[in-house]
Amino acid sequence: MGAAVTIIDHPLVQHKLTLMRRQETSTAKFRSLVHEISMLLAYEVTRELPLKQEAIITPMGPTQSPVVAGKKMVIVSIMRAGQGILEGMLQLIPSARVGHIGLYRDPKTHIAIEYYFKLPQDIAEREVLVVDPMLATGNTAVAAVHRLREATLGSIKFVCLLAAPEGIAHFQSEHPDVPIYTAAVDERLDEHGYIIPGLGDAGDRLFGTK
Ligand code: URA
Repeated sequence: MGAAVTIIDHPLVQHKLTLMRRQETSTAKFRSLVHEISMLLAYEVTRELPLKQEAIITPMGPTQSPVVAGKKMVIVSIMRAGQGILEGMLQLIPSARVGHIGLYRDPKTHIAIEYYFKLPQDIAEREVLVVDPMLATGNTAVAAVHRLREATLGSIKFVCLLAAPEGIAHFQSEHPDVPIYTAAVDERLDEHGYIIPGLGDAGDRLFGTK
């Protein structure tokens, strides 16, 4: 058994996801939807962050008020499609540090091939959110988290927009300690490793490359 899969079923998330799925949605609209939905995902994923009371002074006088306590965050974007989620989340968590892992899927074998890897030096002292819009075969996400585990034994969460059952099973078998957060779990993969019904190629739709 792997860690939990949390489906973020908030009505605004579901509505925006439907707009993203529609083939007639323009690149500009798709991009702004990714940013909006990513803020909502970040809101849910950070729900359990611990708080501590801090002494502050309002214009009316002193009080104790809660602030986020404990470890700071790092958002690790799996390039290139992770960039859209990263930018949205940074609007909500502007002080987060950022890591990048460049992986592409070999179109024939679907194996993940690394071309870039850069993490903050203090990643072991931080909570890690790994972001990639599509958990399809799971090969890319699995490879990314294996690389991250070389740098940190701490908390890692995987956040995507859409997941396929095959990708979830693969990811959980390799990383049973890493919870998955997604806006939806779709039916299946097609023979090219694309999610059905899905939303197409997230990177192409985000950057207008097709
Ligand atoms: N990557 C995508 O962008 N879309 C899919 O459906 C699967 C992988």
